[in-house]
Amino acid sequence: MASHAESLKSQYPWTSKPFIVSAPLRAIAGPALATSVSRASGLGFLGAGTDLSNFEQMFSECINILQKSPIPNSLPGIVPIGVGFICWGASLPVALSVITKANLKPAAAWLFAPKEAKDLMEWAQGIRKASNGKTRIWVQVGTVAMAIEIVRSCEPDVLVIQGSDAGGHGLAKSSSIISLLPECADALQREGFGHIPLVAAGGVMDGRGVVAAIALGATGICMGTRFLSTPEAVVSKGYQYAVIRAKDGGVSTARTRLYDSLRGTPGWPEDYNGRGVLNHSFWDHEKGMGEKENTRLYEKAVETGDAGWGDQGRMTTYAGTGVGLIHKVQPAAEIVAEVLREAKKYLTGAQSRL
Ligand SMILES: Cc1cc2nc3c(=O)[nH]c(=O)nc-3n(C[C@H](O)[C@H](O)[C@H](O)COP(=O)(O)O)c2cc1C
Repeated sequence: MASHAESLKSQYPWTSKPFIVSAPLRAIAGPALATSVSRASGLGFLGAGTDLSNFEQMFSECINILQKSPIPNSLPGIVPIGVGFICWGASLPVALSVITKANLKPAAAWLFAPKEAKDLMEWAQGIRKASNGKTRIWVQVGTVAMAIEIVRSCEPDVLVIQGSDAGGHGLAKSSSIISLLPECADALQREGFGHIPLVAAGGVMDGRGVVAAIALGATGICMGTRFLSTPEAVVSKGYQYAVIRAKDGGVSTARTRLYDSLRGTPGWPEDYNGRGVLNHSFWDHEKGMGEKENTRLYEKAVETGDAGWGDQGRMTTYAGTGVGLIHKVQPAAEIVAEVLREAKKYLTGAQSRL
């Protein structure tokens, strides 16, 4: 049987080892970020998210970018990027119609946060059919039980194991990948699903995190927060500087549903919340400020533009506990190259300490 790394390499032949993925950051990971990461020998995901009204246009833009300047070793019939859907809110008929109509199919579809785990069967079957089996199914999960349930119901091609350090939304109750990943790997092995490659998400910021995640049993690693500080990410300067300024993510970020209510983005299943940088909205809420007043102040902060972000601001900066390891804005391709280089260096360093 092919190793996990060999099977990922055969499905995504333009990628390097270790396998680096940029997360489908909703409304932030657009065509520029997704194609830059894939061009740099990773797998970039578009963040289609919950609102698919511009999904077709974003996907066509990726096709245009890649037709003008193709990525060597791409497979015929596929676009060498993935697409991420937030399943509780995204329209499955729209997703299927775009994928069916497209001559070239996305290399992977990343499914996340269904209302109920069983909904993913319809997503997985629908996308496999719409893409004539060309689009591989990835599912992001945050507990051992969910990993087992999902592999039994829709046997994904890849499971992304999301730990509690992750930026943005995830399960309110989960552990960090340091224990979650090996426990998932063991449970999947016991259940006869040891052939499914695992990708680690949550807190990986550099080559050290990559080496650690691989030692835990991951074949690939996914970074979300790290790619927020790229020129390709569709975020304002204020957001980006808030990520760069934040240090010591265990205390400067928290998981909360507050930011969803202030931003007017309800709908997340009850067991989910989002990790973001703490700011005056959060502290005022902790001190007992009512939601109406907090929302009013939030909306005023929005009018101030870039100044509304950061620990002295009120606007939402979804980001993970790894924020303290990000020090500058850097092109996505440079991040992928740096992380690949560092992983090899740190692995040698680690070996010498064993
Ligand atoms: C700003 C932001 C937006 C995100 N949006 C999505 C999303 O739309 N869909 C999704 O599956 N995950 C989303 N995530 C979570 C990522 O998939 C991933 O689990 C996480 O970024 C990994 O942890 P890290 O942020 O520490 O790298 C988001 C994360 C961030 C930081």
